[in-house]
Amino acid sequence: MIAYLSATGNSRHVALRLSERLGDSRLVDLSDYLKGTTTPLSLNKGESLGFVFPVHSWGLPKGFAELLRTLPIEGISPATYCYMVCTCGDDCGLAAGQWRKTVRRDGLEGKAAFSVFMPNTYVIFPGFDVDSDTVRDRKLADSETAIASIAESISNRKEGDFTHHGSFAWLKSKVIYPGFMLTVSDKPFRATDRCIGCGLCATVCPTANIRLIDGHPQWKGNCLNCLACYHRCPADAIVFGRKTNGKGKYFYP
Ligand SMILES: Cc1cc2nc3c(=O)[nH]c(=O)nc-3n(C[C@H](O)[C@H](O)[C@H](O)COP(=O)(O)O)c2cc1C
Repeated sequence: MIAYLSATGNSRHVALRLSERLGDSRLVDLSDYLKGTTTPLSLNKGESLGFVFPVHSWGLPKGFAELLRTLPIEGISPATYCYMVCTCGDDCGLAAGQWRKTVRRDGLEGKAAFSVFMPNTYVIFPGFDVDSDTVRDRKLADSETAIASIAESISNRKEGDFTHHGSFAWLKSKVIYPGFMLTVSDKPFRATDRCIGCGLCATVCPTANIRLIDGHPQWKGNCLNCLACYHRCPADAIVFGRKTNGKGKYFYP
């Protein structure tokens, strides 16, 4: 079983490609659980359990750690091969260690962690933007080789942390990450008068945090800052205060 969370489609794509390569057709979209689904994930005997998700600020996306802790899972045993694949634009810091601690329960241990470089989606802080077309296309092309190699490792039940930590990993994950999580807010989001009221932002929001009022989106305060609404808006109408001025857009094609 492969359970994934994805805002802009990168992690969903990786989950789908892994599922094809591993012949594991049991795919679960964890955003359903962020929206309130309570049906337990039920593992068959000997079945592996994979988590695929994006790295946010060198750690797990807001609310995702809590979801992993409380996710109802049946059929786990100490023998369950549990792995994670995170997608990141540049580096993951110590996200794998955070995942390992979070997923541990009832004899379940996170056994292997992998990462795949995918196009960047974070654009809010000054100096951060989506990748150039050349970098984006190179990352997408290279990701196929990375996914193939990860699928082989998973088939061989390889164990260990194979994620790309990058530089200053401890500082990024242990100091910047907690601070970043405190800044996560949807208050600066608004739709400009370019909004066409199509409601796609509400559909793609992984936490069902957007409702349409008189054809205009309103954010309800349960935001991951995943930027799915910003990147997917077909009218380029969604802004995050002034911080998205002049910034690019991307979602997995
Ligand atoms: C809030 C936020 C924080 C991010 N932080 C990081 C990071 O710490 N390191 C990194 O390499 N990429 C970071 N990224 C980029 C995403 O991890 C990357 O683009 C990922 O593939 C997006 O996956 P998705 O399309 O499945 O949502 C961040 C993106 C967002 C929206």
